[in-house]
Amino acid sequence: MPIDPSEYRRVLGHFPTGVTVVTGADDEGAVGMTIGSFASVSLDPPLVMFCPTHDSTTWQRIKEAGTFCVNVLGDDQLDLCGLFAGKDEDKFAEIEWTTEHTGAPVLPGSIAWIDCDIHAVHDGGDHAIVVGLVKALRTVDELDSRGPLLFFQGGFGQFGTL
Ligand SMILES: Cc1cc2nc3c(=O)[nH]c(=O)nc-3n(C[C@H](O)[C@H](O)[C@H](O)COP(=O)(O)O)c2cc1C
Repeated sequence: MPIDPSEYRRVLGHFPTGVTVVTGADDEGAVGMTIGSFASVSLDPPLVMFCPTHDSTTWQRIKEAGTFCVNVLGDDQLDLCGLFAGKDEDKFAEIEWTTEHTGAPVLPGSIAWIDCDIHAVHDGGDHAIVVGLVKALRTVDELDSRGPLLFFQGGFGQFGTL
């Protein structure tokens, strides 16, 4: 039985994700895209993954650069989520970003960042499966009370403990 695309989207929308912005930098400047398909993979060696669509110009440039930084968004960063899910020519125009190990942008206010070298790229149908080797990572604002931004059934929310 073939899988109906709208049913695929509806059912998979029942799985909540965190929201990240995966960034990179090259001679032309900084690039970044909102990514929900981020996950940890391995502790030894330390590997993480995300799945960018082949259509993404951001992914093409990150692939060339060979490094990326995963910025985990807090629940007060919905504006960054929208900005980096868009197609603006320069998504960094209004952002004062910094760099850590790889030179990929670290976004101000992210609750955590994970700096990586591209370790492997696998076939994932209309997306690539990108595995990153973690080179440096940190949580920011260790003592603040913000939680992560969450994505579920096409909407955004906050984390609450049971
Ligand atoms: C919450 C959320 C999660 C997303 N997750 C992904 C993802 O995992 N992979 C992907 O390719 N696009 C994802 N997107 C869409 C990209 O952010 C969007 O296509 C972006 O415009 C790509 O930028 P670019 O075309 O400048 O490269 C997501 C968007 C949102 C709002």
